[in-house]
Amino acid sequence: MIPWTPALETGHPTIDDDHRKLIASLNELDSALKKGVGKEQVIPLVSFLNRYSREHFAREEAHMTRVNCPSAVANKQAHLDFAAKLDGWLATLQTGASLSLVLEVHRETSRWIGAHIVNVDCKLRGCRLA
Ligand SMILES: [Fe+2]
Repeated sequence: MIPWTPALETGHPTIDDDHRKLIASLNELDSALKKGVGKEQVIPLVSFLNRYSREHFAREEAHMTRVNCPSAVANKQAHLDFAAKLDGWLATLQTGASLSLVLEVHRETSRWIGAHIVNVDCKLRGCRLA
């Protein structure tokens, strides 16, 4: 479980709400895995994570550009790289991979999202609309 902490707050409500939702979806996946549910119940959770991440990435990139955030370019590249990873994982899952891959997806995504929010997205803290 990833707890929401002040260290994850960018101070931009739309972005923070998105991040809360992303973390909630990761925690939902965590609960499902701990209950030992089957792949057919896990794939929709990973699909949601994939879809929602992309929607969020687009919103966040546009917002960073609007407020002239110094992390805007690095953020966009990090999103591209991570979205490609999500696509690869989902494609493998849909063609019959084991639940051990889902555990890897959950572990890697949790690690990436936590570090990315703190190290890249939180650069938004000093940025405001001109
Ligand atoms: Fe980001």
